[in-house]
Amino acid sequence: MGKMFSESAIERIEQEYKEWLQEYEKALQKLPERLERFSTVSDLEVKPLYTPLDIKDKDYLEDIGFPGRYPFTRGVQTTMYRARLWTMRMFAGLGTAEQTNERFHYLINHGETGLSVAFDFPTLMGYDTDSPLARGECGRCGVAIDTIEDMERLFAGINLEEVTTSMTINPPASVIWAMYIANAENQGFDRRKLGGTIQNDCLKEFIAQKTLMLPPEPSLRLVVDTVEFGTREVPRWNTISISGYHIREAGATAVQELAFTIYDGITYVEECIKRGLNVDDFAGRLSFFWNSHIDFFEEIAKMRAARRMWARIMKERFKAQKPRSMMCRFHVQTAGCSLTAQEPYNNIIRTTTEALAAILGGCQSLHTNSLDEVYMIPSEFAVKIALRTQQILADEVGVANVIDPLAGSYYVEALTDRMEEEANEYIRKLDEMGGMVAAIEKNYPQMEIADSAYRFQQQIERGEKIIIGINKFPSEIPPLEVLKIDPEIERLQIERLNRFKERRNKVKLQKALDELRRRCEGPPCWENNVMPALIEAVKAGATEQECCDVYREVFGTYTDPASF
Ligand code: 3HC
Repeated sequence: MGKMFSESAIERIEQEYKEWLQEYEKALQKLPERLERFSTVSDLEVKPLYTPLDIKDKDYLEDIGFPGRYPFTRGVQTTMYRARLWTMRMFAGLGTAEQTNERFHYLINHGETGLSVAFDFPTLMGYDTDSPLARGECGRCGVAIDTIEDMERLFAGINLEEVTTSMTINPPASVIWAMYIANAENQGFDRRKLGGTIQNDCLKEFIAQKTLMLPPEPSLRLVVDTVEFGTREVPRWNTISISGYHIREAGATAVQELAFTIYDGITYVEECIKRGLNVDDFAGRLSFFWNSHIDFFEEIAKMRAARRMWARIMKERFKAQKPRSMMCRFHVQTAGCSLTAQEPYNNIIRTTTEALAAILGGCQSLHTNSLDEVYMIPSEFAVKIALRTQQILADEVGVANVIDPLAGSYYVEALTDRMEEEANEYIRKLDEMGGMVAAIEKNYPQMEIADSAYRFQQQIERGEKIIIGINKFPSEIPPLEVLKIDPEIERLQIERLNRFKERRNKVKLQKALDELRRRCEGPPCWENNVMPALIEAVKAGATEQECCDVYREVFGTYTDPASF
């Protein structure tokens, strides 16, 4: 079909390659290789040179193809960045809703093109600021959101039909999304015109990030409720951001990040089909979220392999018909775990190369870490440099002018193939184990990640993997001017939460929460979909925790077995 090299060319190249290998060995006699072993940051051994021999069996049309066409290896859009750059979407959240709203406007004024909300830990775990479990955490690692009024403050002055908003929220995703929709409707916006994403990926929480609330089964039920509701009522909304980022940050290799995340996607598709949803009705609004770690080519190969794997799985395993159902559209965040507190300005260089990899990997949306993100939520000074990094790559460096320029690279294509092959090995194992929930219950992905994390740390300690400022040219951690969150905001947030609760119509509120409970207790189906009840409840003044407490009472809570 689309073989890339003729038999005779391959024969001649094979002959010449053998001769070159002899010359290479001879040259090493004079000056040996500078390392005992060359491998990617995920420890995939790499050869000194790649040639057509490494991709001689590839079929261009079947394996590489064209952008915007199956298997999408070269990109999901026909025109990619020639028509529209990736969304510059900086993860932001600090202090109160007003303080984060200020940061949103700062970023928009400096050119970001999408919003991304970071919530504080109580919100991430489904607790209000007045919960004893929230003490000292208000606004520290993200914005404190308790009520629909906080949501209104968060998006003040922003047209929610024009912007797309990502919200990094998992167990309480249905509640926070309901608050977003309810607030938008209170402002006169049409839910069918709202664009954005909820992360809403419970499986990676059990595998890696550990913001846990409910057991796996009810967690999956709520995810399917949101997908079903989005498909019917909020057609522009991406209902899950199937995340590899945190799996990688927990210490996974690139192949494990790829495999476990793709398999999480398989699980969500299976659960939605079990609910009776048509794959082509919802799959086009599933999206992904990858880490862009420090090994440049490994990350590009991982992202290209992800598109081809997802396309093949959706077409062959799930019989999807629509091309859009087969597209792996994704956001990327540069690797937080690659940043160092030592010589923090070096982090600008790390983030730049990781962002370049994400762009050459064909991302749809990108967050670039700030140099001070190891210390604290970014300062305005640092976050502006992080955003400018994307803008310089987009407008000055030329890498957005040609679609998938690295295609055809013997190394990149060979590494893309290897990623796909090794990730498919994991997919076969997970199938044999009975799926991801069964594997999680056996601690399989968790232990695979822990082993990789341990191996990588040993390589750093043996000096086999280098981190400048840490194990090569080691230096002290310098003092750095970082953002400060005033602990006083906790008292203020609690005071206004109390005032909010006093003003509520208690009868209306209780009725709404009773309806939510009734739906949770009922069998999963459209009539028991939690979203309509949640929208009514938050409009009646239910707080995030009051809704999550209904979940906890009906579904029970989950404690991580802490396997290692
Ligand atoms: N030609 C024509 N149309 C194009 C185009 C082109 N070249 N490029 C894009 N478009 C269209 C798209 O089709 C889309 O229209 P549609 O919605 O009708 O399909 C529109 O333009 C917007 O383009 P994208 O959908 O590609 O870009 P978005 O930015 O809107 O969406 C996404 C990207 C990946 C699909 C989405 O899910 C997203 O934004 N995800 C972000 C997730 C995120 O920010 N997560 C942060 C998590 S932080 C975290 O978890 C880490 C912390 O915990 C430590």
